[in-house]
Amino acid sequence: MKGIILAGGTATRLFPLTATTSKQLLPIYDRQMIFYPLNVLVKGGIKDILIIIAPEHSGHFVNLLGSIFDKHDIHLEFKIQKIPRGLADAFIVGENFIGNDNVTMILGDNIFEDDFSEDIKNFKSGAKVFAVKVPDPERLGVVVFNKQMQAIKIVEKPKEWISDYAVAGLYIYDNRVIKAAKTMKPSGRGEIEITDLNSWYLERGELEVGLVKGKWLDAGTFDSLLEAGNYVKEKKLYENFHPAINEAIKEFNEELKMLTKKKL
Ligand code: DAU
Repeated sequence: MKGIILAGGTATRLFPLTATTSKQLLPIYDRQMIFYPLNVLVKGGIKDILIIIAPEHSGHFVNLLGSIFDKHDIHLEFKIQKIPRGLADAFIVGENFIGNDNVTMILGDNIFEDDFSEDIKNFKSGAKVFAVKVPDPERLGVVVFNKQMQAIKIVEKPKEWISDYAVAGLYIYDNRVIKAAKTMKPSGRGEIEITDLNSWYLERGELEVGLVKGKWLDAGTFDSLLEAGNYVKEKKLYENFHPAINEAIKEFNEELKMLTKKKL
C-alpha cells in the first residue's frame, strides 16, 4: 500500500493566511495541519508517501518535511501539481509513484479523530471510502444509503437534499484507480471529481462505505480551522500520534533550537 496526501490547491477561502504559506502548513494547535493526514497513513503502516503540493509554497513543505523522517523508516516524496485539476488528478500526478500497488489517498486539510489503521491494513481490492453525518451536505460529496445501509449513489455537492452523509477525504483504492482516473471528464466546476471515481467503483459493486467515528473536520475556513485547533487541544488528539511522528517533530524542534543558539 502506498500513500498520497493531496496538499495543493489555492485555498482562497483562507486568504490572507494562505497568501504567505500553504493551508496544510497552517497550525492546528501545536503542529502543522499536514501532520494529521500524515499520521493517518503512518498509523496504517504505510511507509511510502507522496505529498502533492502546489508550486507557490513548495519550499515550505520541503523545509519542514524534507529530512524529518530520515531516522524513522518513512519515505516521503513530493510532486508539484501545477494546476488544481481536481482530486482524481492525484492518481495521474502520482502514477509512477503508485506503480503496481494499491493506494490510500487523504486530503491534506482533513482531520480525523478516528483511527483507520485496520481498514488500511486489511484492504484487498475495490475501493473503500468513509461517510460521516454532517449538517451541510450540499458543500461536499454525498452518499445515499438504502435501508440495509448499502451505498446506492454518490453525488458531488447535490443542489437538492439527498442524504445527510458526506464522504470524508480518505479513500482507499486498488491499482485500477490510475486507469479509471484517466477516463474521468471534468465536471461543471472544471475538475476531475473523486466522486466520479467513487461512482466508477460503485457501479461495479466494488465500493465499500464505512462510517467515520468521532470528529471529522476539513479545516478550510477560518471557523473550521479554529474549531480544529480548539478540538485537538481539548481532546489532546496530539497524544494519539504514531510515535515515529511525535519523535520526528521533537527532533526537528531540538535541531531548530540548537541551530538558533549557534547563530546567536
Ligand atoms: O473534504 C471532503 C470533500 O472534499 C469531499 O466530500 C468531496 O467529495 C470532495 O470533492 C472534496 O470537496 P471540496 O470541494 O471541499 O474539495 P476542495 O476543492 O476544497 O479540495 C480538497 C483539498 O484538496 C484542499 O485542501 C485542496 C486540495 N486540492 C484540491 C484540488 C481540487 C488539491 O491539492 N488539488 C486539487 O486539484
